[in-house]
Amino acid sequence: MHSCHVRTFQEWRDAARPLLAAGVPWDRIEWRDTTQSQSASLATESGHVASLRLPRSLLQLLSCLSDYRHDGRWHLMYRLAWRTLYENRQLLADEADRDVRDALAWQRAVHHDCHKMHAFVRFRELRGAEGGVRYFAWFEPQHRILRRAVPFFAERFPNMEWTIATPGGAAVWEQGALRFVDAPGSAARTASDAHDALWRTYYRSICNAARINPAAMQREMPQRYWRNLPEAAEIPALIRDSVEQFGQRRSQVDEHAARTPKAVERALAQLPRLEAGPAACHRCELWRNATQPVLGAGPERASIMLVGEQPGDEEDLRGRPFIGPAGKVLDEALAAAGLVRDEIFVTNAVKHFRWEPRGKRRLHRRPDVAHVLACSVWLEREIATVQPRVIIALGGTALRAVTGASASIESVRTQPMRHTTGAHVVATYHPSAVLRADATRADTLRAHLIDALHRARTLAT
Ligand code: URA
Repeated sequence: MHSCHVRTFQEWRDAARPLLAAGVPWDRIEWRDTTQSQSASLATESGHVASLRLPRSLLQLLSCLSDYRHDGRWHLMYRLAWRTLYENRQLLADEADRDVRDALAWQRAVHHDCHKMHAFVRFRELRGAEGGVRYFAWFEPQHRILRRAVPFFAERFPNMEWTIATPGGAAVWEQGALRFVDAPGSAARTASDAHDALWRTYYRSICNAARINPAAMQREMPQRYWRNLPEAAEIPALIRDSVEQFGQRRSQVDEHAARTPKAVERALAQLPRLEAGPAACHRCELWRNATQPVLGAGPERASIMLVGEQPGDEEDLRGRPFIGPAGKVLDEALAAAGLVRDEIFVTNAVKHFRWEPRGKRRLHRRPDVAHVLACSVWLEREIATVQPRVIIALGGTALRAVTGASASIESVRTQPMRHTTGAHVVATYHPSAVLRADATRADTLRAHLIDALHRARTLAT
């Protein structure tokens, strides 16, 4: 009997290769998982290493299986390889085969876990003593997927310095290079920052607990991820509100027990149905290529709401509206009009960044009407929560989202308009139009923008 101690796919491969070449059957090997770095090289009975050619598709599958958290994975991997070499070269095509079925199910589980990691990693901003910014995320995957999942983040956030720590190790992205460290740096795991507050405020404001759909929520945001999602901390309170608001008997939700996810699940199951929140919004396809939904920011109640088009590149990465170049133009115009940004609720018609690749850059693409319509549910909820007296629509997309009209800004910018809630609507040019225009036109557009902000200020008082 052979005994092999391995911990990575490469180690398994190095150990399996001579055994397979020597034709050692799968039931003559005991595979053990080790967390220590041990040499896995083995002397085979024959000492002879024949040349082996495993199909590429099998190797890809085996690599994926090595990430599946199960003591039996090394064994299954060897059995699949051995049976492919010595029993049936087309084994993988036989989906009725028990080993193949198990392997495909495990592969799906690993892919699913990667997908969840891409969706649920939340970076927290950490500022160093010298003012440098790093981003830190803590994530607990079900399987050993860190190395498999993390290139996605390297592609998505090449300009940030970040660490993603998991119980099994951490990935560090620094100066354009990725490295992995064994010990997870979980010190900042419980740290809370402004991003958390934003997520939580937004989640509270858009979540209509009267219509929570626990099944959809569980599907999109499985419970094991909740403890690391800032917005999930709001769920018990939302349930309590719902109970009060919708006359459920308080005894149905035990407040103490509601702190535990299981109890939260049970409590949710007692409530009427609702869709999952914007963090899990798949109403249109834009979520696929965006980093995160960029939600409105500002006071929960504000007399003025500013609606832009959609987040840009920087907003998409950092999760806040109007913090890039257009945000700078907007900030200057607000100051010129005597408005304070912190007193205004700033949001966008579309919450996910629509872009297309251009070399290494992500180029803004205007959202279609379908995207605006799909996202309107979130904007309407923001308007219902914030209850602004004046809504400023920045550009044509925002105008359409707020009023349904598809007019040019020039034709409506001085017209009195109302939102269905009764709020005044002031339409004006988007700050990006100022950035795109030549110097003379830019001055004109900037003046129109400031003038509109002035009027909004007057209407709001
Ligand atoms: N443009 C917008 O419309 N919104 C933002 O948040 C940034 C740029």
